[in-house]
Amino acid sequence: CGIVGYVGAQSALDVVIAGLKRLEYRGYDSAGVAVLADGTLANVKKAGKLVNLEKELVSRPLPAGSTGLGHTRWATHGGPTDVNAHPHLDNSGRVAVVHNGIIENFAALRAELAERGHRLESETDTEVVAHLLAERFEAAGGAGGGGLAEAMRQVCRRLEGAFTLVAVHADEPDVVVGARRNSPLVVGVGEGENFLASDVAAFIAHTRSAIELGQDQVVELRRDGVTVTCFDGAPATVRAYHVDWDASAAEKGGYDYFMLKEIAEQPKAVADTLLGRIDASGLLTLDEVRIPASVLREVDKVVIVACGTAYHAGMIAKLAIEHWTRIPCETELASEFRYRDPILDQRTLVIAISQSGETMDTLMALRHAREQGARVLAVCNTNGSTIPRESDAVLYTHAGPEVAVASTKAFLTQLVACYLVALYLGQVRGTKWGDEIRAVIRELSDIAAAVDTVLETMEPVRALARSLADKDTVLFLGRHVGYPVALEGALKLKELAYMHAEGFAAGELKHGPIALIEKDLPVVVVVPSPRGRSVLHDKIVSNIQEIRARGARTIVIAEEGDEAVVPYADHLIRIPATPTLLQPLVATVPLQVFACELATARGNEVDQPRNLAKSVTVE
Ligand code: G6P
Repeated sequence: CGIVGYVGAQSALDVVIAGLKRLEYRGYDSAGVAVLADGTLANVKKAGKLVNLEKELVSRPLPAGSTGLGHTRWATHGGPTDVNAHPHLDNSGRVAVVHNGIIENFAALRAELAERGHRLESETDTEVVAHLLAERFEAAGGAGGGGLAEAMRQVCRRLEGAFTLVAVHADEPDVVVGARRNSPLVVGVGEGENFLASDVAAFIAHTRSAIELGQDQVVELRRDGVTVTCFDGAPATVRAYHVDWDASAAEKGGYDYFMLKEIAEQPKAVADTLLGRIDASGLLTLDEVRIPASVLREVDKVVIVACGTAYHAGMIAKLAIEHWTRIPCETELASEFRYRDPILDQRTLVIAISQSGETMDTLMALRHAREQGARVLAVCNTNGSTIPRESDAVLYTHAGPEVAVASTKAFLTQLVACYLVALYLGQVRGTKWGDEIRAVIRELSDIAAAVDTVLETMEPVRALARSLADKDTVLFLGRHVGYPVALEGALKLKELAYMHAEGFAAGELKHGPIALIEKDLPVVVVVPSPRGRSVLHDKIVSNIQEIRARGARTIVIAEEGDEAVVPYADHLIRIPATPTLLQPLVATVPLQVFACELATARGNEVDQPRNLAKSVTVE
């Protein structure tokens, strides 16, 4: 979910709505706002996207006020209806609260409130907070007493689970209060005005000065100041920082969709992620990885945890790490990790890959790993987010803000960062010689140009995608690094085109999936370089023949100059020659373009696919 709070001299409604627009990627199945004006609280909320709320505000305008809050929702407790949309109010209608996360003990709290005569109207866990706040506010002496901030601290101490809360009370017209446990919340510090949001994107049009709230902290926002305390009332130490993301970077920059813009930004994102990490001698300097070399030398196992697209990056990283460092490495879905009682100790290095740095499954996996004594290195795109903050070290990807829900440029930069980690491990442990490392780094440095070349030759891929708009199923095959690429191609198609799409390891085909092949079924095959490990290449050429013999329409992604595939390719997509391990950096790009174009041809919304959210902050 996305949250915005404002207090200042501007129209709170305008600031909040503009902020919510920048946060809609965090969830968009309902939205709502509340403002304080003339000692009263007014609110409007609506199921569906923000535009529904905006329409509603035209027919039911809110009074002008300069304190307010808003929310864009990704449903957890209770379906996406008007009633379940945030903000939630107490029975007196004087408290409004918005929430991101899940309050795990809400059923018990709800029963308790009902016993004390409260009427709860929605199915949400959030509504209990509004009622509890109203009670605690009165008990703490109202506006003249501890105020809303004290009420919030008391309520938070009773809540279990993950929550970011922002609340206002009609009796304190110039105050907005926020609280944070697990889910993100950032303060924007202005002149005579202050902001609260799940993400700096919501307020960078107004201020670039930000304060990161820590775990279990409450913030009281007034026009002229910000006070942060811990849940127990003790003063809190916070980190102030300057937001250097350009406001226009979060806009579409002339493209129809953020996704198209982000696909096009990939050469730069890849180059930026290498920037400043290679010294004059051509070796790696990753000073930011604050795990001492002595500790890295002792590592005897690497475990990678991630979700979705980041998990596919992790699968590729495993191959690079094992190949370059000979340290055993496994990659695991973060959501499965801690429940299988994994074997971890001080010599295990866990790598948590996450674009947002807020994915709850990944966060919980890394907490579990640290509890077992493992070191955690985050590979993350979002400065100051929770996952890097809770890790021993972080290597940031420099993709810039990624707004489209389906990940593209973040994926490529995750790969680059993982290659750097693998090489760095090899460098500090002496398993890779200087010259070998220099050679791979040179090859990595050439990739941005190769991605550019792919992007320039995508028109036939788009035409092919349009021609397949009425198909029900597309399959994807690959081997070695091409297997995760196939999975990623299939994931993109599911997310965007809502088609049945599956990726298989090409060798597994004969063990079952080949039964799916029928006449004219489109099958995308990612072909490894014929140089490098040629045995891999030859095996996959045989697989292409096997499926073609059974009627499949073969869409072959192969390196420039690979003539062996030509007789068996119904459609041939060329990519520049790259070393085997680095091929995913170029081979994924046509699959992103393919999925994006198919989604458009099927009339789907590219940037905000149904049912999905960019940042999933619940387990
Ligand atoms: C969500 C997004 C995916 C993303 C995954 C992991 O499910 O829809 O696109 O790959 O989360 O996100 P993260 O921010 O941890 O990389």
